[in-house]
Amino acid sequence: MTQPASMIKDQALAPGGRLKIDWVKQHMPLLEQINEEFRKSKPFAGMNIAICLHLEAKTAYLAQVLHNAGANVAISGSNPLSTQDDVAAALAESGVIVNAWHGCTPQEYDKLLQATAGIGPDFVIDDGGDLVHLLHNDLKKHLPKIKGGCEETTTGLHRLRGMAARNELRFPMIAVNDAYCKYLFDNRYGTGQSTWDGIMRTTNLVVAGKTVVVAGYGWCGRGVAMRAKGLGANVIVTEVDPIKALEAGMDGFRVMPMQEAARRGQIFVTLTGCNDVITKEHFLVMQDGAVLANAGHFDVEISKPDLAALATDVKEVRANIEEYMMEDGRRLYLLGEGRLVNLACADGHPVEIMDLSFAIQALSLEYLLKAGETLADEVIEVPKQVDNWVARLKLKADGVEIDTLSEAQVKYMNGIA
Ligand code: ADE
Repeated sequence: MTQPASMIKDQALAPGGRLKIDWVKQHMPLLEQINEEFRKSKPFAGMNIAICLHLEAKTAYLAQVLHNAGANVAISGSNPLSTQDDVAAALAESGVIVNAWHGCTPQEYDKLLQATAGIGPDFVIDDGGDLVHLLHNDLKKHLPKIKGGCEETTTGLHRLRGMAARNELRFPMIAVNDAYCKYLFDNRYGTGQSTWDGIMRTTNLVVAGKTVVVAGYGWCGRGVAMRAKGLGANVIVTEVDPIKALEAGMDGFRVMPMQEAARRGQIFVTLTGCNDVITKEHFLVMQDGAVLANAGHFDVEISKPDLAALATDVKEVRANIEEYMMEDGRRLYLLGEGRLVNLACADGHPVEIMDLSFAIQALSLEYLLKAGETLADEVIEVPKQVDNWVARLKLKADGVEIDTLSEAQVKYMNGIA
């Protein structure tokens, strides 16, 4: 059967994308090792894998690894602004079916995702839950063939756990986000660095001395607050969870409601996974020049409808910065249309971090393959051996050795000695 054609912006952009992919390959030793093994053993020979992930260079390498493992791979971007068109073009020429372009409209986004799901997947990889949602609604006909999938992120897992609780999930989904080697590094250090990368390269403004408001103190929020402190900012955290609020306080941050923080902040970063975190009553009291950035999965945390309703004028004042002019002359600056600032305005998480996350993705898919029909249609944890393997390999790649328990110590720890 001939492969469906890719739907991308411009094939001529491929050379730039190739350079980006070549660069990340040199810094992803775990995926490289998996690639070597899969290339020889071809575990996914003849199978179809549909992917919905942020389509930048690290993701492209993961797609190539699965393609080299014998699979027919189709991929879409998981956010209209995170796709890099040069990377999409380079990936398409390597034999992967790519359905993605930067800046697609919501209708185009659906069409592109439908094309990817239309491959008739045996396995899926999702980031945020849109692909799995589509397969359980408009494209139900593909459900019987699907053996399982993996979800990359916290938001996607919220959606999946809701489906599972309602008994609606029709294939097993592995919670890649919840592996230690994922959230401890990707959510915390990955988001911590890439969010500031996005804000700094977009605004070119100093962070030192500014008051930064971080909304949400989950693993991502912890990372962003920690790095803001390191950059010299005065950090305020807003939370709804009393334990996380306490933790933020003991980590040295001021904690207060958003209504109070709104008057003090100069840079705002939302990472709650919830909607309407910053709304009209907050915009009304913000300082002139406040910068608004979102690093949560969907563009619903900073209310764009409220911002638009308050604004007397909106214009792009620099690439990826929209200025909302308030009636009283204050200017509020929204980065990347309120979409994930680290991907819409930068290149996503650092390469070595995504090496860990995508190694877990690849090995979790292999686990699903080997498990066959034995797994229930539920949200499943990443097997401990995958997490451990990834940690050990990363230590090895970094040249770090660690101690091993002696037999006597093992006995002691087991209460035998
Ligand atoms: N690059 C690819 N997927 C990503 C993600 N979920 N977060 C940050 N960077 C990424």
